[in-house]
Order: sequence, then C-alpha cells, then structure tokens
Amino acid sequence: MKKNAAIGIFDSGVGGSSIWQEINHLLPNENTIYLADSKNAPYGYKTPKEITALSVKNTEVLVRMGCKLIVVACNTATTNAISELRSKFNIPIIGIEPAVKPAALKSTSKSIGILATKGTFSSILFSKTSTKYSKNISMMEVVGEGLVPLIEAGKIKSTEMTQLLLKYTKPMIEADIDYLVLGCSHYPYLIPELKKILPAHIGILHSGEAVAKHTESTLASMNLLQDEEKQPSLQFYTNTEVSTLQYLLRDYSENITVRIKDF
Ligand code: DGL
Repeated sequence: MKKNAAIGIFDSGVGGSSIWQEINHLLPNENTIYLADSKNAPYGYKTPKEITALSVKNTEVLVRMGCKLIVVACNTATTNAISELRSKFNIPIIGIEPAVKPAALKSTSKSIGILATKGTFSSILFSKTSTKYSKNISMMEVVGEGLVPLIEAGKIKSTEMTQLLLKYTKPMIEADIDYLVLGCSHYPYLIPELKKILPAHIGILHSGEAVAKHTESTLASMNLLQDEEKQPSLQFYTNTEVSTLQYLLRDYSENITVRIKDF
C-alpha cells in the first residue's frame, strides 16, 4: 500500500463529514475520499443485517478506489457492522462509538445523557460499552428520531429542529445531566442549536477528535502516513444530491469537490 493512497470515509449520509473535518484538521496532507450514502439514510431504523450489507457495499467501493484505511464515520454502522467489516476486508478499519467513557469519567453529577440512533442503542457493542461505564452513573438514552432526515435536508436551523431538540433534551436536563454525548456523527452539526437550548454548565461530547487521533496512530504504526507536503485531493461523493454536503463544507469550498456517484 502506498502512503499517498487516500483515507476512505463513509457514513449513511452527510453527517460523517463532521468526522472528516477532524481528520483533515489533524492530517492536512492526507488524500481523502468520502462517501455519503444518503440514498439509504437513515441507517438508524434498519436491521443489523441491512446495516451490515450497506456497510460492506460502501467499504467495497472505497477499497476498489484504492483507499489505504477505512473510517466508518457512523456510530450506527460501527456498532452493528465493524466486526464483520474487519473480518471481510484486509485493510485497517477505524470505527466511531458514542463517547460514553469520557462522559462517565468526567461527570460530577453522576448523570449523563446520550443522544443516538435506535440502531446504535440496540446494538450489542453499545450495550457492552454502556454496561461497562454505567456503574454509579445514571445514563439517559434518548433516540434522536427525525434529526438525521432534517440534517440531510439541510434544515439545521429550523423550527422543527428546535422543537425536536427541546423535546429530547428536556428529560435530560430534568435528570441533572452534566454531559451530553452526541452518539451520531450527524449531531455535531447541531452543537450551535444545542448550545442555545442547554444550560451553560452542560458539556457536549462527541468522538470526532478521538477518531482522527486513532486514524493518525494507526497509519503511523503501519508507516502509511502521507509525508509529501502538497495540496491533497479531497473527494466527496453522494448518491443523492450535492447541496447539503456543499453547505456543511462551505468553509472548504475552494479545496474540495462534491460529486454525484451511483453506489
Ligand atoms: N450518522 C450516523 C451515526 O453516526 C447514522 C445516522 C442514521 O443514518 O441513522 O449513527
């Protein structure tokens, strides 16, 4: 494998681009290829079998495009499909899981909230992690129903979004949480909206930076970090339409391309 091969990243849609931003920030020389499987979003209500089949399909596309490492930038896909992906593909695969551990360790009120998809909460992997860190900590799990479709449609600053966020955070605030874990890669795009709603003492955590660091250490351990200092190729593909990705990545518009691809 060559050092200048791309890092392949996929999500059920546009949300994993929040993870791409963390990777690009930490590893600015790396070439990247991002797949937004928006045609099949949301994954959160699919069965583990369906989520695994879609994750295998996305990984196959990225492997065929010559990627040196795959980042599953989707908590739902990671918690349901990562072991199958690792057994099927002979390439390093990094996943993302809700930041339950740091929240549980940091919490002084001993109460944390987790917002994620139904598919993540019902997975075996999530239940293992949450059981491990739930001793002496109360964890309020809330399914963010409807949030992903609104983000996919670019309706982040909308009345519908505000109403849903108020509804989902109310019981958490009442339960005196001091950390809110965003357990879906779409949700970091909601941080400005959440900050308007949540009391200032509630910290918001997600796993984007940890995934970027894990990507860096994995590539370093395999001697696969890109060491040429040149403008990287940053390719984005969606199987629906380009406008939401272009909007979310507007700060990068001079350096990226977003294209439609059938996959
Ligand atoms: N972005 C995804 C996640 O991290 C999945 C959202 C969905 O498709 O339901 O869980």
